[in-house]
Amino acid sequence: MLLFINKKRFISIGILLTLIILMIIIYIDTPTTIYSIDIQNIQLNNVENHTKQLLPRVLCLILTTPKNFLSRVIAVNETWGPRCDRYFFVTESPTQTMTPEQINFTQQIPIAPIQNITSGYGHLTQKSTLAFLFAYEKYFNDFDWVVKADDDTYLIVENLKAFLSQQNTSEPVTFGYNFKVIVSKGYHSGGASYVLSRESLRRFYEAHNDLNSTCRKDGGAEDVEIAKCLRSKGVYPGKSLDKQNRELFHPLPYISHFRGNIPNWLKQYAENPLQTVS
Ligand SMILES: *[C@@H]1O[C@H](CO)[C@@H](O)[C@H](O)[C@H]1NC(C)=O
Ligand SMILES: *[C@@H]1O[C@H](CO)[C@@H](O)[C@H](O)[C@H]1NC(C)=O
Ligand SMILES: *[C@@H]1O[C@H](CO)[C@@H](O)[C@H](O)[C@H]1NC(C)=O
Ligand SMILES: *[C@@H]1O[C@H](CO)[C@@H](O)[C@H](O)[C@H]1NC(C)=O
Ligand SMILES: *[C@@H]1O[C@H](CO)[C@@H](O)[C@H](O)[C@H]1NC(C)=O
Ligand SMILES: *[C@@H]1O[C@H](CO)[C@@H](O)[C@H](O)[C@H]1NC(C)=O
Repeated sequence: MLLFINKKRFISIGILLTLIILMIIIYIDTPTTIYSIDIQNIQLNNVENHTKQLLPRVLCLILTTPKNFLSRVIAVNETWGPRCDRYFFVTESPTQTMTPEQINFTQQIPIAPIQNITSGYGHLTQKSTLAFLFAYEKYFNDFDWVVKADDDTYLIVENLKAFLSQQNTSEPVTFGYNFKVIVSKGYHSGGASYVLSRESLRRFYEAHNDLNSTCRKDGGAEDVEIAKCLRSKGVYPGKSLDKQNRELFHPLPYISHFRGNIPNWLKQYAENPLQTVS
């Protein structure tokens, strides 16, 4: 009898314990796991969205010419070009003298659909102008900044974005390597590449559609003419220096900056005093 009662109690306690353990698993353990996964997902999404919102969107316009397609263009396309949020090569139409391989190549790179670009170094003003007008007409709402670069430019897009994230694209401002001569308030070296804010791009478009426009559509020096046109609408060049007063855009080939081979003309043109360390 006693044994039977003890056995009954033992079974009851066993059932109770099992229930408690089950309750712990169902009400605490399982929900906690799901909950913590949820939090992780939310945090990951927030981090990604947060990053996307902080980094400005950059459209890159890269001036080139068919003879550089299989050399410089292929290199830009394999390196920094795709790091822009969108990039276009700006070129006159491929010539009839191109080989089938070269024509084939043009199908595999993003070429801005701009008609009637004239070839030749003397027509860079037209190439840049048409590229900016194209950017305004097709992509004004899609990007915060527009970069004009060349096929021999190397842009560290991550650094550019970090710098631009500190700037205000609603301001009529541009950034690049500052020359202090020729144009009112100076101008940016074309070879170093330069950046227009959205407001600057809007004013550039406005300037070209102004009946009284003094903007040249072709000829002259590209960097000077674009700057003159922007000045006619109150767009000004900003300071493109880091916290230690070092330039962020560089007009000379890398090796010249590295060795400190600074030509005399640059010493006269430079807005910021040149620093060399021997
Ligand atoms: C970003 O936010 C949107 C809604 O605002 C959301 O649908 C998306 O999953 C979030 N995460 C990423 C990585 O886009
Ligand atoms: C150019 O780069 C894009 C993006 O990375 C790639 O899809 C394309 O195949 C490249 N074109 C060539 C010719 O390598
Ligand atoms: C053009 O490119 C395609 C795909 O990359 C390739 O299959 C084809 O052989 C190429 N043609 C020529 C003429 O290079
Ligand atoms: C390009 O040039 C052709 C021939 O001169 C002309 O008919 C056409 O309208 C031009 N296109 C643009 C977009 O200017
Ligand atoms: C950005 O510039 C615009 C135009 O000058 C100005 O209205 C706005 O307050 C500025 N925003 C910030 C965050 O400084
Ligand atoms: C062009 O200039 C004239 C004379 O200075 C001025 O009266 C006119 O309003 C200007 N037109 C535009 C569109 O700015």
